[in-house]
Amino acid sequence: MGDRVLVIGGGGREHALGWKLAQSPQVQDLYFAPGNGGTSLLGTNVDIAVTDTTGLLNFATDQKIDFTVVGPEAALEAGVVDAFRARDLNIFGPTKAAAQIETSKAFTASFMERYNIPQPTSVTVNTIKTALQYTASHNSTEYVIKADGLAAGKGVILPASKKEAEEVIRQMLSGKLFGEAGQTIVFQERLIGQEVSAFAVTDGQNIAMLPFFQDHKPVYDGDKGPNTGGIGCYTPVPIITDKIAEQITTIMQSVINGLRQDGILYTGVLYAGLFVTPEGPKVIEFNARFGDPECEPMMLILDGDFYPILKRAVAGDILPTDIKVKKGAIADVVLCSAGYPTKFKIGYPITGLESINDSDILVFHAGTKTINNQIVTTGGRVLNVTAYGNDLKTALDKAYSAVRRIHFKDMHYRTDIGQKALNQ
Ligand code: AMP
Ligand code: GLY
Repeated sequence: MGDRVLVIGGGGREHALGWKLAQSPQVQDLYFAPGNGGTSLLGTNVDIAVTDTTGLLNFATDQKIDFTVVGPEAALEAGVVDAFRARDLNIFGPTKAAAQIETSKAFTASFMERYNIPQPTSVTVNTIKTALQYTASHNSTEYVIKADGLAAGKGVILPASKKEAEEVIRQMLSGKLFGEAGQTIVFQERLIGQEVSAFAVTDGQNIAMLPFFQDHKPVYDGDKGPNTGGIGCYTPVPIITDKIAEQITTIMQSVINGLRQDGILYTGVLYAGLFVTPEGPKVIEFNARFGDPECEPMMLILDGDFYPILKRAVAGDILPTDIKVKKGAIADVVLCSAGYPTKFKIGYPITGLESINDSDILVFHAGTKTINNQIVTTGGRVLNVTAYGNDLKTALDKAYSAVRRIHFKDMHYRTDIGQKALNQ
């Protein structure tokens, strides 16, 4: 008899995790809370919110779940991991205290300073007068302005001129732009270089690095328009040389060591958003979970059974050599509802999915639901078209050929995913 596994979440990331776990001979039954139209094809969707700690705990106990995997940060922040551990249930993900590396900017800034994690320099300001003194003495291209509080991913401004900077400062500090979240602002050194996403599985002591990815955040081609949660990504990343990979691995290990010294055992996935600058990699943010969309292509390029590795992270047995990656490249193109990340319509039928039957192409569902045997759109990010190839160009060509076979009203996607890497 194999294990009964619960995956918490309902996005493309959780569909991909479920797809990979379903291939493990050790996994017998899969449950998703709440899941989506894609996960319902792999297991059973249960209608419990990711932050409903009591509901999740009761389900796991009643259904004799052997192992739980947490997808989104909201569940971590709600203390789901702490609650499961208190009942001796096996769960993959950091505790609420450990997840502060993502959920609290103040915690992370002081942590990084104490442990010499390379990061851009910054100055925190909370009056218009001090802010204007800063803009008077710095060139506007040297810094970015960040709202200190959570601003739904929109709190970072790269001003094009002093005039724009002053306008943003007045709007933020007066509370007009982001309310309370903008009433403290941070001027941060503007980094020059390419961004990468780095991931490590950890048991709180040792780490095993997962593949590096480049994500595309802005919604339109040419990096135009507002930032999304991520609208397409790929691996391998050409700018990651062996030396840079080693530097980033050292950063990840220092974070885990530092947390342990502070009395926090971090188990799960650590995700760093970095800039590769001429002075080496610098961290702009940490997340306490797998990336979305990065997790979708990641599951496709990992070789071998991933389930025992997740179990070893929880048991405290991670080895740096645990992760095996297939040769070749993977691209992921996100199909979303036009208007995302702000206003968009949902409820449209999706067609063409059945016409994709190439073992190198997988479509992971994000915002979908099955109603009367018809898959319909239910969110901003709707589907992830993920394709494998011997090289990035082949992977991208395959992904886009599949994209052209899928249709739903208001479908939008970027046509230039991976171009930055191909141009290098
Ligand atoms: P964040 O919300 O901190 O992840 O930032 C969103 C985006 O703003 C990042 O993906 C970067 O493209 C950009 N950004 C953030 N911080 C900096 C920085 N210090 N220098 C240059 N660009 C930045
Ligand atoms: N890909 C961006 C994120 O997961 O936060």
